[in-house]
Amino acid sequence: MIGFSRTAEQLTCDGVPLSAIAAAEGTPVYVYGAATLRQRYRELDAAFGDYPHAIHYAFKANSTRAIIAELKALGSSVDAVSIWEVEVARKVGFLPRQIVFDGVGKSEAELERAVALDLKAINVESLGELARVEAIAARVGTVARVAIRINPDIDAKSHPHISTGLKVNKFGIPADDVRALFPTFGARPAVQLVALHVHVGSQITTMDPIRRAALRLAELAHDAQHAGVNLEYVDAGGGLGISYDGGPVPSFRDYASAFVEAIRTTRLPIVVEPGRSIVGPAGALVARVLDIKPRSATSEFVVIDAGMSELMRPALYDAFHLIEPIDARIGGLRQYEIVGPVCESGDVVGRDRMLTPLDVGDLVAICDAGAYGAVMASNYNRRPLPAEVLVDNGSWRVIRRRQTLDDLLALET
Ligand SMILES: Cc1ncc(COP(=O)(O)O)c(C=O)c1O
Repeated sequence: MIGFSRTAEQLTCDGVPLSAIAAAEGTPVYVYGAATLRQRYRELDAAFGDYPHAIHYAFKANSTRAIIAELKALGSSVDAVSIWEVEVARKVGFLPRQIVFDGVGKSEAELERAVALDLKAINVESLGELARVEAIAARVGTVARVAIRINPDIDAKSHPHISTGLKVNKFGIPADDVRALFPTFGARPAVQLVALHVHVGSQITTMDPIRRAALRLAELAHDAQHAGVNLEYVDAGGGLGISYDGGPVPSFRDYASAFVEAIRTTRLPIVVEPGRSIVGPAGALVARVLDIKPRSATSEFVVIDAGMSELMRPALYDAFHLIEPIDARIGGLRQYEIVGPVCESGDVVGRDRMLTPLDVGDLVAICDAGAYGAVMASNYNRRPLPAEVLVDNGSWRVIRRRQTLDDLLALET
């Protein structure tokens, strides 16, 4: 049995009791299952069949070294959104031509480094950025490989903070402006347009935005080809959602087929940049109950030792994560407001949850915390970053140790 599953007594990851990890490493602690990570990567890869494609795993979802090393071993390439993610990729052994570099605000220094590395593509997000890349490449006497991020004006229908494809969002260049650029590339010796890129948002749970983005990408790629641009591939972004609450989400097969069907006519390989859908379900955040106190006539507060500093999504997006007691408990369901320890009223991890009775000292697992968990953690309230543990083949190891107060203070005078 791979992943997080329950025995008669308790919740386990690949058969390893989460309570054993908590006892050894303390709480809060992120626990990842290597088998799930591999299974999800392989499933997505297989969903493209023999259509030429490349998976550029989005580091922003989780870039702990051991996680990205696992994905590298499976054949993954990289989607980076800062030069620091690019450098981490390089340290783990990815080649420059395995890295695409996104991001709506890249500094001059980031662009200089990216041009010098000769990455697979710098995905430019504005005409100004294209001009800056071009100027750097001309200055150093090279040809920069660029992709253009299109703003397709498509509603991803996810949370407004993670929808990126509408005109009102800060990302990309409107399709008409992109079209007007195509004929100019014949006379721009310092830049080579290698791809077009869309990414309409994250946690997309219906096929409609994915299909529309695929069609828009294909249409623009045809236009580029007719204008004489020799594209090498199209980059369809990330965004496939996962089921946090048990509701239906598109499968990898649905996702891949939508792109293959639309893009096939261009004869171009497809790059995708998935993050959440690969690593989200592979992780849980394990926390301990610190306190229980009355809230209303029908519910109680359960204060746990993980909150917005370890998993920002509930506070940031009102996101739902399933919360499960780790040890099996007997008793009728009770209504709990599960809150973190951070001094903010918004630090609520789970609202109005119906759970078997909890006691102070009990362990809970906050499920599907593998993506946008550890990477978004902060030291707010001087809380040290938790340890991260990878379970593999029936055993486990710490892949990032818990931060100490000395680590925290080391940067300060
Ligand atoms: C440009 C880009 N690519 C890929 C991703 C990964 O998205 P997801 O984790 O939803 O697959 C993101 C995240 O929003 C992104 O901004």
